[in-house]
Amino acid sequence: MRATGDEGGVADTEREVLPGVRWRPVVPDDAPALSVLCRLTGDGGGDASGRTAFPDLLGDVYATPYAHAYGLDGASFGTLVLDDEGPAGYLLGCVDTARFEAWREEHWWPPLRRRYPRPEDGYEGTYDEWLLRIVHAGVRPDPLWAQHAPQHPPRYPSHLHVDLLPRLQGRGLGRLLVDRLCAQLAAAGSPGVHLGVSAANPGAVAFYRRTGFTELDRSATGHTFGRALSSGATSA
Ligand SMILES: CC(C)(COP(=O)(O)OP(=O)(O)OC[C@H]1O[C@@H](n2cnc3c(N)ncnc32)[C@H](O)[C@@H]1OP(=O)(O)O)[C@@H](O)C(=O)NCCC(=O)NCCS
Repeated sequence: MRATGDEGGVADTEREVLPGVRWRPVVPDDAPALSVLCRLTGDGGGDASGRTAFPDLLGDVYATPYAHAYGLDGASFGTLVLDDEGPAGYLLGCVDTARFEAWREEHWWPPLRRRYPRPEDGYEGTYDEWLLRIVHAGVRPDPLWAQHAPQHPPRYPSHLHVDLLPRLQGRGLGRLLVDRLCAQLAAAGSPGVHLGVSAANPGAVAFYRRTGFTELDRSATGHTFGRALSSGATSA
């Protein structure tokens, strides 16, 4: 694993953000920790361990790709949050969702499609159905983040995921993380960031409304939020 202390000479290294709480950039060795954190917060913000038949499936869809997004030339960002008990949260995102999904289609999904069953193979109506569907069908381009006409560049090409264990929630860390990523994305030239949140997670919906996001779309199962980015933003 890459050195993360001040002695490492890495521009963005580990540092304390709240008393007893540090953050640092995600490295590939963090993938197992990201997967556990994703599962522990994956059921409307709570622990999904008792609902999924595949302990790493949630992470394989929403978290671990960001630890392995080689070849995206700095267009992928990950911040791991740690306290004295170990990894306790993360914020993951990328500048160009279309490019990220093209990378996943070529490099990420093929081995997972060999490993995981199809939803039709007995998982319809279960918690895992929608995750298995994403693994096997990929992510369909959306005009929100994909270029659908030359004169209409997408307004929210970037996306993010943020998850904190309960012991770190409610202390302002979520806001700090989101502001940090928005600054990174804006510095990389992105005009906007979007995300999806389950309708079963009203706490997260309230959080995004309080942190500069606007609801762009809503369905029976969830909400899509977006936040416009200004290129003058500064990093946290
Ligand atoms: C959602 C989450 C990232 C928010 O991070 P957080 O550190 O707890 O939130 P903050 O303390 O930074 O709160 C920022 C603002 O959002 C509000 N907020 C946060 N959680 C809230 C909740 N559950 N209900 C209502 N408001 C909430 C805070 O009151 C605060 O508002 P204010 O600054 O205007 O007073 C975090 O609680 C979490 O990881 N939850 C579990 C996983 C999850 O649901 N992830 C999102 C999946 S889409």
